[in-house]
Amino acid sequence: MKIIGVGCGPGLLTEQAIQELKQVKSAYGSDRAIELARAYLPKNCTVRSIDDYKKLSTLPENTVILSTGDPMLAGLGYLKGEVIPGISSLQIAAARLHIPLSRVTVVVAHGHGHEQGMRVTVDEVKRGKIVFLLADPKFSVADLYSRLAALSLPLQVAVLENLAYPEERIIVGDIASPPLPQDSLYSLVIGNF
Ligand SMILES: C[S@@+](CC[C@H](N)C(=O)[O-])C[C@H]1O[C@@H](n2cnc3c(N)ncnc32)[C@H](O)[C@@H]1O
Repeated sequence: MKIIGVGCGPGLLTEQAIQELKQVKSAYGSDRAIELARAYLPKNCTVRSIDDYKKLSTLPENTVILSTGDPMLAGLGYLKGEVIPGISSLQIAAARLHIPLSRVTVVVAHGHGHEQGMRVTVDEVKRGKIVFLLADPKFSVADLYSRLAALSLPLQVAVLENLAYPEERIIVGDIASPPLPQDSLYSLVIGNF
């Protein structure tokens, strides 16, 4: 199996990923990953939308998996096989906000990880780290903001929506009056930056 990172938005495919995509015969991916890779996939290759993530590990060895952003950032890089890196939402966020990655802690608050994501975020900002938080649409941003406000620290918060897409939107505020996401594809950056 080969897991190809297709970037977190349009125009972020690496030259290596493009060369790999041009040779694909059978690929699986989320609708978004397929869309990001589509221009370079051969016309006669079979492309299927993933309907059951649990079955991915049972697919034949020659299958290619398309993973949005970088496969090793909360992506499909946990599957066995070669990983072709991609440009992640973390990298784009750090570039847009001019934040050195060495100051950043990544927190994944997806699915069942909401409560733990909130706790780790609070702990990390107390330690002076900048948190990059990946969140799904059901994550309670309001709950996180109230826990952070209780720390009485001078924290900044950025909402980064649709990074690298034409509708990209980045709003920066402070924890007294933090910005709220308006779209389902968003990440947060929290700390002193
Ligand atoms: C399952 S994770 C996959 C992350 C991906 N592997 C990457 O490298 O960016 C999905 C989460 O990443 C964040 N994300 C991915 N792409 C994004 C984008 N273009 N803009 C903002 N956040 C994004 C969101 O928090 C989203 O819910």
